[in-house]
Amino acid sequence: MEDMKELTWVEISEKALKANVAQFRKLIGNDKLLCPCVKANAYGHGLVEASRIFLESGADWLSVNAVYEARILREAGLTSPILILGYVPLSSLKEGLELDTRFTVYNYETIDRLSEEARKLGKTAKVHIKAETGNNRQGVLSEDLLSFARHIQEVGNIEIEGLSTHFANIEDTTDHSYAMIQIERFLQADQLLKDNGITVKIKHCANSAATILFPKTHFDMVRVGIASYGMWPSKETYVSYLQERNSGFELTPAFTWKAKIAQIKNVPAGEFIGYGCAFKTTHDTKLAIIPVGYYDGYDRGISNNYVLIHGKRAFLRGRVCMNMIMVDVTDIPEARLEDTVTLMGVDGEETITAEQFGTWAGTINYEVTTRVNDRILRAVV
Ligand SMILES: Cc1ncc(COP(=O)(O)O)c(C=O)c1O
Repeated sequence: MEDMKELTWVEISEKALKANVAQFRKLIGNDKLLCPCVKANAYGHGLVEASRIFLESGADWLSVNAVYEARILREAGLTSPILILGYVPLSSLKEGLELDTRFTVYNYETIDRLSEEARKLGKTAKVHIKAETGNNRQGVLSEDLLSFARHIQEVGNIEIEGLSTHFANIEDTTDHSYAMIQIERFLQADQLLKDNGITVKIKHCANSAATILFPKTHFDMVRVGIASYGMWPSKETYVSYLQERNSGFELTPAFTWKAKIAQIKNVPAGEFIGYGCAFKTTHDTKLAIIPVGYYDGYDRGISNNYVLIHGKRAFLRGRVCMNMIMVDVTDIPEARLEDTVTLMGVDGEETITAEQFGTWAGTINYEVTTRVNDRILRAVV
């Protein structure tokens, strides 16, 4: 990284991503499909970079939110099955078919258009019906499920390959009773289809927390997002894991965000720093300017916390700007222009985790890494 021209960049640890895939493979066994969730630029880890590593280390499928993500993956030469989790506009269904993606479905309009486009292309579309089990986001209500499935069978050129659902309250709590109700409803949905002669090859409902905590949610495939990147879904999930399972499952974070010092200057005592004159120096201060701001995903709420320079904490002074932050390096005399700054990750004995960063910013690890601007280079190390 020494001669990099970038002012800020993200390093993705290949070793960490591979270790996480290996942990999940051990957990779910070889007969279940492992489908990392790579939407939102692979939770900020770089869509193509992370997907390639996942597949090389034994993942079977990938799941994305939208057709454009599938297009990027196909253009990068990745040939694995891709499941689109989000809503695909009717006008994009044809492209999805051409890219050979699977669709998550819950609207009649989608089915009719998909059937028409598949017929024109001489293809059979593969769909995964999303059963509504209590999240009340996407999904088909239980009373509509059978007629929806029958409609799919009648229109032609569509195969019902999968049945899925998504948990509403599995990582935000140590009380998993609502998740258990959802599993029950999911089983009932499957049974209803079976009783009416509709068998589905791939049933799936497990996100990271479900996969880690409840083997009975693994069914035929697991859709693991956050934990594939080495982050626990929440403190509650970690505590539940320790209480209920504690069987040697480990996660390794893969994300390090760095930048270079853009200026070092001496600011006398009694001077203001940054917008709103929000900070006033109480002593002669050696200040480093770091070319990263809220445009890059460095949350403005972080203003009173720190970055790492030469393994030491350098506290922010003044407000986070659009493209810059200012930090106090008075006690880091060795700091020089273009020295490396760790915004998130490990430097010597110090670590800033995505969880810590999230606490500072009043949000969760999921949002922290996905919000780091896609424009910033992801370098696999
Ligand atoms: C439908 C669906 N499945 C799976 C996931 C992965 O969830 P997690 O990152 O908690 O593993 C998500 C993430 O939001 C999702 O929306």
